[in-house]
Amino acid sequence: HKVELELEAIEKGGFDHFMLKEIFEQPRSIADSMRGRVKAEEGTLQLGGLRDYLDKLAKSKRIVIIGCGTSWHAGLVAEYIFEELARIPVEVEYASEFRYRNPIIKEGDIVIAISQSGETADTLAAIELAKSKGAIIFGVCNVVGSSIARATHAGAFTHAGPEIGVASTKAFTAQVTVLTLMALAAAHRKGTLSESLFRQLLTELESIPAKVEQVLQAADKIKEIAYIFTYARNFIYLGRGLNFPVALEGALKLKEISYIHAEGYPAAEMKHGPIALIDEDMPVVVIATQDSSYEKVVSNIQEVKARKGRVIAVVTEGDTHLPGMVDFTIEIPRVHDILMPLVSVVPLQLLSYYIAVMRGRNVDQPRNLAKSVTVE
Ligand code: AGP
Repeated sequence: HKVELELEAIEKGGFDHFMLKEIFEQPRSIADSMRGRVKAEEGTLQLGGLRDYLDKLAKSKRIVIIGCGTSWHAGLVAEYIFEELARIPVEVEYASEFRYRNPIIKEGDIVIAISQSGETADTLAAIELAKSKGAIIFGVCNVVGSSIARATHAGAFTHAGPEIGVASTKAFTAQVTVLTLMALAAAHRKGTLSESLFRQLLTELESIPAKVEQVLQAADKIKEIAYIFTYARNFIYLGRGLNFPVALEGALKLKEISYIHAEGYPAAEMKHGPIALIDEDMPVVVIATQDSSYEKVVSNIQEVKARKGRVIAVVTEGDTHLPGMVDFTIEIPRVHDILMPLVSVVPLQLLSYYIAVMRGRNVDQPRNLAKSVTVE
């Protein structure tokens, strides 16, 4: 037993939990997911596993993305990026709903299945259903040789390395990285993306690992904020645009490892119901980075503050406006709008981690959950 414990300590590489280690690995796992694929200086992007199918992806009239949990959230991010850059309509579905819904799939339709483990039963069944209707299946998996990876026609692996913590962290950012590359490749081939924006995004992608590293340096500050909210009973997460799926992901992380009830909403949707929940006991995490929806998010924050909600805002570094308006701010570096989730999700992962630790939870193996859900 002692040997086992020592082995585990070595595997954790000096971190208290696998989850924390995996959060801190993200600069590397994001870089690994781009390695050999992105060459910003030459202005090239190559995805080997897509080569024979890139034309089909670029010419598709519709893309359906399927996944569960965090992988589904990565799909929502991809929806924004594919639509914005490649101008292809995208639908994102929970695999568990898709498989029982008699979905409309025609010969040659594109389905992208996202799964860290590659063994999720609902996702696998959804793939088989789509395949039987003639769809071309692209996989975004982390585990080579997994059932889902083998069931797909084409795809691109995430190179996040083994993820042990039940709460998915580095797999999410690796999925978003790879899906962004797929969208960029499709848009470039299709001609909906200018050469200059294509090159700019490749360059910006290469700077993401260093920016994530910068966010990780704020871990101690995030820990202090977590301490203040350790005994909160509920949380709301708000974001708009690409930060909306990040809000959902932040809420899921908190729920699964700390057992605090949390909900993510698109910030503007708050006034259609959830605003009734806001009082001085309701912490609200708002992703309020300086992107195209900044002004709108600021007014959503004012609505929360007017009802005495306590706001923790993730802001762009150098923002001088929000610190005076909200209770706590966490700064992240400036990033191109399209790539924002890769950076903005990191403080939310850390926040949920520290809250769960302070509540004495089993962070790596939360109750009732398994790393891969191989049953219905
Ligand atoms: C995420 O933190 C979860 N534990 C869970 O939602 C997970 O993302 C989901 O079960 C899908 O798993 P997969 O990516 O291995 O298919």
